[in-house]
Amino acid sequence: MNPYFCTLNWLKIKTFLNQIIHDKLPKHIAVIMDGNGRWAKEKNRPRVFGHKNGVTAVREVTEACAELGVSYLTLYAFSQENWNRPKFEVNALMSLLVETLSKEVRTLNKNNIRLEAIGELDKLPQKTHLALKKGIIDTQSNDRMTLVLALNYSSRKEIIQASKDVVRDIKAGHLTEDQLDEDVFSTYLETKKYPDPELLIRTSGEQRISNYLLWQIAYAELYFTKVFWPDFRKENLYEAIVDFQSRERRFGKISEQLV
Ligand code: FPP
Repeated sequence: MNPYFCTLNWLKIKTFLNQIIHDKLPKHIAVIMDGNGRWAKEKNRPRVFGHKNGVTAVREVTEACAELGVSYLTLYAFSQENWNRPKFEVNALMSLLVETLSKEVRTLNKNNIRLEAIGELDKLPQKTHLALKKGIIDTQSNDRMTLVLALNYSSRKEIIQASKDVVRDIKAGHLTEDQLDEDVFSTYLETKKYPDPELLIRTSGEQRISNYLLWQIAYAELYFTKVFWPDFRKENLYEAIVDFQSRERRFGKISEQLV
């Protein structure tokens, strides 16, 4: 990069970083990584080139969250709806996951980051499932931050499964209807170990939730940026956090009650 732009970029990073209030950090950030295909198209390259370059952004955001002290980062890596893409792209994404997981486990361990996953993992291709399981086992004792990959994930399916499990437990006498409330229902979700995301970021200019953590984001702040995922860097994350910290989170109250 030209030294002038390099300095300018460094100043931009510093400016956002200096604005972050460290005791007001979101504990959990969820991301919809979008725009890989359009990023590649702009460069006259195949869509898979966009996914490959998306890995750099995954690395940057994971590292930035760990450095800042965010406890949980959940990335939407593959939705159940994504199976409807051309077979070639699905296969390429699955292979990229295997390759990335095998390569990055060492870095995760070096940075004391635990890898976990949500979604119907046993329905992934065997190689992807195995690489994922290995990554999870190899990083299970890390405790600085948890990186959660949503893979073959559908929030509606997760809610239906949780509802079925609730009914089963009520029928078996392990739970009464009166005991069932929001907190109890949350313990039936795949995300039961994690606090709800406080910040949801979607890249690429699209403003949709796409069947992602529907229950869990009830009170999340939504942040949409036009930046395509492969271009998303630490400074973009810092900018999102600064924006999050400028919002008044009222949870149904009025401003005066918050003081
Ligand atoms: C959405 O962009 C992106 C995906 C469906 C896949 C995200 C996967 C990666 C970034 C690869 C590696 C991930 C990990 C966790 C190692 P899109 O293809 O829908 O883009 P478009 O909307 O421009 O077509």
